[in-house]
Amino acid sequence: MNRTISVSPFSDQKPGTSGLRKKVPVFQKTGYTEAFIQSIFDSLDGFEGKSLVIGGDGRFYNREVIQTAIRMAAANGFGRVLVGQGGILSTPAASHLIRKTKAFGGLILSASHNPGGPTEDFGIKYNISNGGPAPEKITEEIHARSQVIDRYMIADFDDVDLDLIGTFEAGGMAIEVVDPVSDYADLMETLFDFDAIRTMVAGGFKVAFDAMHAVTGPYASEILVRRIGVDPALVFNATPLEDFGGHHPDPNLVHAKALYDLMMGPDAPDFGAASDGDGDRNLIIGKGVFVTPSDSLAMLAANAHLAPGYKDGLKGIARSMPTSGAADRVAAKLGVEMHETPTGWKFFGNLLDAGRCTICGEESAGTGSDHVREKDGLWAVLLWLNILAARRQSVKQIVEDHWAEYGRTYYSRHDYEAIETDKANELMAALEETLDTMAGRQTGSMVVERADSFTYHDPVDGSVSRNQGIRIFFEGGSRLVFRLSGTGTSGATLRVYMERYEPDSARHDQETQAALAPLIEAAENLAGIAGRTGRTAPTVIT
Ligand code: G6P
Ligand code: ZN
Repeated sequence: MNRTISVSPFSDQKPGTSGLRKKVPVFQKTGYTEAFIQSIFDSLDGFEGKSLVIGGDGRFYNREVIQTAIRMAAANGFGRVLVGQGGILSTPAASHLIRKTKAFGGLILSASHNPGGPTEDFGIKYNISNGGPAPEKITEEIHARSQVIDRYMIADFDDVDLDLIGTFEAGGMAIEVVDPVSDYADLMETLFDFDAIRTMVAGGFKVAFDAMHAVTGPYASEILVRRIGVDPALVFNATPLEDFGGHHPDPNLVHAKALYDLMMGPDAPDFGAASDGDGDRNLIIGKGVFVTPSDSLAMLAANAHLAPGYKDGLKGIARSMPTSGAADRVAAKLGVEMHETPTGWKFFGNLLDAGRCTICGEESAGTGSDHVREKDGLWAVLLWLNILAARRQSVKQIVEDHWAEYGRTYYSRHDYEAIETDKANELMAALEETLDTMAGRQTGSMVVERADSFTYHDPVDGSVSRNQGIRIFFEGGSRLVFRLSGTGTSGATLRVYMERYEPDSARHDQETQAALAPLIEAAENLAGIAGRTGRTAPTVIT
C-alpha cells in the first residue's frame, strides 16, 4: 500500500558541488530525507516502470536511507531498483551499474571523504542515465522543488534484506540486490593489461593500498589481491566501517599520513595508493615521491596509450579550473583538445558524452575517463600500475622524465576550514572588487598580469556557469586561485590554489612550499586572509 504524507519544505536543501551534504542529525529530522528524495523524483520525467540504482559508501545511516529510498521508489512508480549488497556501491561502480543496466538514474548516498558517524556527515546525490552527477539544470530544479514540496509518497513494506543477493518483489516493484564488486572488476579487466600487472607484482614489485576503512576495501580485495596478486598484508584498512574507524576517509597527506610515512621510509613498497569514503578519489605515492593530483592527471594522459583501453589515444583532456596547467602541456603535445571546467565532476559529463575528451582530472584527487561518468580511484591506481608494468620504470623515474620533457608545475592548495561564512563571503567579495584594478599590481617579487572571476561556457550545451572562482595570473606564468568550497558542512572553507611553472630541469628538485613562497606571500597580500579571517596559517596544506 502506498501512502502520501504531508511535509513542509526545509529551507536548506540546496545541493552543493556534489549533492546534498549535511550532518546525520539533519537528515534524521522527521521528513527531511523523504522531502529531499521526493524533490528529486518530482524533478524527473518519465521514469515510470524504469530502473533506479541505489547504493552508498556504507557510512552511518546508509542502510536506513536505502530502505526509505526503496520504499519511495516503489510508491513513485519505478519498475525496478538495483541495490548493492549490504547497501554498498562505490561511486564509480554505481556509475557503471547505471550505464550497464541502462537504468533511468541512481541515488548515491555518500559524503565522500567527509567523516562518518552519528554526528558526522551524510549525503544524497542524484545521477542521470549517463551515470554521471545531475547537471546544474537538474540540481537547481531539485532545489526549487524542495522549497515548495508539500507531500511525499512511500510504500508500506518490510525492510529489504540488503545482505542477500537475489531478486525480490515488493510494492509492485522488482528489487535486485547485486554484488557491488564483480561488474566493476570486470570492467577494469577490459581496460587494463592485468597479465602484465600480475607479472610485475609476481616479480617482486610491491603495491600498498589504504582503503581507509571505506568503500574500496572489498574492491581492493577482489581486484588487487585476488585478481592481481598484491600481498594482502599491504592492503590496509580494508574493512568498511560506518565511522571509517573515526578517521576522515580523505586520501591526502594529512589523513593518509601512515601510508605517506611508509612510502617515504626505508622499507617503502614500490607503489602506494589510497582512495576515499566512496572510492572516487585517489592518492598516488611512489617510493620516496608524492605525485600531486594535477601531475598525476598529466602523467596518466601522457602514458594512457600504454593501457589496452586507451591504445588508440585520447580524444581530449579536461581539468577543473583550479587544477594545474600540467595536463595542458600534454594536450598540446598530443595535439588534442583541452578543456577547463568549473570544480565538480558533473561539468565533465557533457564533454565525455560528446566525445570531446577521454581523460579528466581535478586537483581534489579525482581522475577518471570515459569508462564511467564519475571519477574513479581504483581506475587511477590500475592505470598507474599498467603504465609502470609497460615502462618497467619506477614512479620516480616516470615523474622525473615527465618533468624533464614538459617542465614541472609546482602546485599546492592551502585550505582554511570552518571559517565564519560571512567573513569568507566578505573576503571573496573584496577580492572581486579589486579585479579590475589588479593588472600591473606588484606584490613582493610578483607582478599581476590579469585577473578575473572564472565563467564557464559549456561548449556542448551552451550553458553558462558564473562565479566559479577568482583567478590571478602573474607575469612569468604563475597563478593564484581563490574559491570557497562547495562540499563543507560547517562554516565556510576558503581554498587558495597556487602554481608556478618551472621549465628548467636544473630547478626541479625544490621543496614545493619553498618553491611557492612568493605566491603564498602574494595570496596574503592580495586577499588579506589573516586580517579578514583571523587565521594566520592554513588548516590543511596539500
Ligand atoms: C567533490 C566533487 C569533485 C570536486 C570536489 C571539490 O569531491 O566530486 O568533483 O572537485 O568535491 O570540492 P570543494 O570542496 O572544493 O567544492
Ligand atoms: Zn569521493
